[in-house]
Amino acid sequence: MDQIVIHGGRPLSGRIHISGAKNAALTLMPCALLTDASLTLRNLPRLADIDTFGHLLNQHGVATATEGSHPGEFGRTITFTASRITSTVAPYDIVRKMRASILVLGPLLARTGEATVSLPGGCAIGNRPIDLHLKALEALGAEIDLAAGYVRATAPKGLRGGRYTFPGVSVGATENVVMAAVLARGTSVIDNAAREPEIVDLCHCLVAMGAAIDGIGTERLTITGVDRLHGATYAVMPDRIETGSYACAAAITGGELELVGADAASLTATFAALEEAGLACAPTNDGIKVSRANGLHGVTVSTAPYPGFPTDMQAQFMAMLSVADGASLLTETIFENRYMHVPELARMGADITVRGTSAMVRGVPELVGAPVMATDLRASMSLVLAGLAAKGETVVSRVYHLDRGYERLEEKLSAVGADIERVSDG
Ligand code: EPZ
Repeated sequence: MDQIVIHGGRPLSGRIHISGAKNAALTLMPCALLTDASLTLRNLPRLADIDTFGHLLNQHGVATATEGSHPGEFGRTITFTASRITSTVAPYDIVRKMRASILVLGPLLARTGEATVSLPGGCAIGNRPIDLHLKALEALGAEIDLAAGYVRATAPKGLRGGRYTFPGVSVGATENVVMAAVLARGTSVIDNAAREPEIVDLCHCLVAMGAAIDGIGTERLTITGVDRLHGATYAVMPDRIETGSYACAAAITGGELELVGADAASLTATFAALEEAGLACAPTNDGIKVSRANGLHGVTVSTAPYPGFPTDMQAQFMAMLSVADGASLLTETIFENRYMHVPELARMGADITVRGTSAMVRGVPELVGAPVMATDLRASMSLVLAGLAAKGETVVSRVYHLDRGYERLEEKLSAVGADIERVSDG
């Protein structure tokens, strides 16, 4: 398995290209199942999860054609064509590698009236149930059975418009029910829907394919089913979590970065917290410039569904705050086990105390490089950030976690002055 070796202490300076959003791409790709026409997605990031999802779609019968690109180019354009669905089963060996596979459930059900999807199981940050996905689809007339580790969903007479109010906000469950409702017979009203920008991207793509959706970006989505969807060409939105992660890199190293292609509007809570911590953020013609003019100081932040502070930024923010002046209090309200990065940051000298869902971070003058282990995607980025600031050498292992969510990370960071390289540990 590969490792990433970082020699820290160098302020970063320059421009970083922001790639297409992983969490938007993973809900846009299954839209191809909803039509026999072609869906062309541009600005798809080159990430392991995107490749895995492509393989999943292939085994459902979706043909994929990747447009040629130059080696230095970021992102890919891929055309997906589901002329015919040849299998409605999403097998365990693919789903266990990538939980987002559950997002084929709604589209398969809408297109064919059936779907058999392996239960995704938990992961490092939590047990990740899918009960809300299933209840929302039942509100559209789906019949759900659970057996032998699989969800078996059927709608023998097709899906019908229904009403569903989510008891708790769920990004994935909102995505699944929206992709099912666009082809249901009649109108659906979804309340307490998640409002993440990735869901807005999904709705915009579905509308481009001929869907009828009102209330996009709000917690009430009204969807009038149509008989069929046509093809479309759609560009994936920029990755807001990648943007926030590199903003933290500028903050923790005391540097200045221009995040090219970033969309500040999708990160208001994150940038509000970054500015409160002492980072200067200014829009430019090409994106956002972030710089640490003076010191960093502690802040209090709780994660929340959009438009609140994103849980996907919590680990990266904690790394940054570990070298701020003073204390910070972080509270994780979304996932039950999203502090796996804490013991690893502590190995580098961070002073963090976890009590229940909150973590008290006392800033230290500096971190010291050490061998550390990535446990999940965002935790692994927090370790890279800590390594960029730490004195000496940091070796991050299990970097396959990173490859799921950060396109060409070492290349992007090296280009702005980081001493970082990927090595194979044989
Ligand atoms: C999406 O996961 C993202 N993944 C996550 O990003 C992100 O952290 C999360 O939304 C929250 O923003 C993708 O988009 C591929 P949820 P998802 O359903 O949809 C509970 C990353 O690092 N819940 O909004 O799985 C759940 O346990 C990843 O890029 C149920 O109880 O998140 C959690 O506590 C990590 N029942 C809360 O809701 C359900 O049926 C929010 O989960 C579904 C969820």
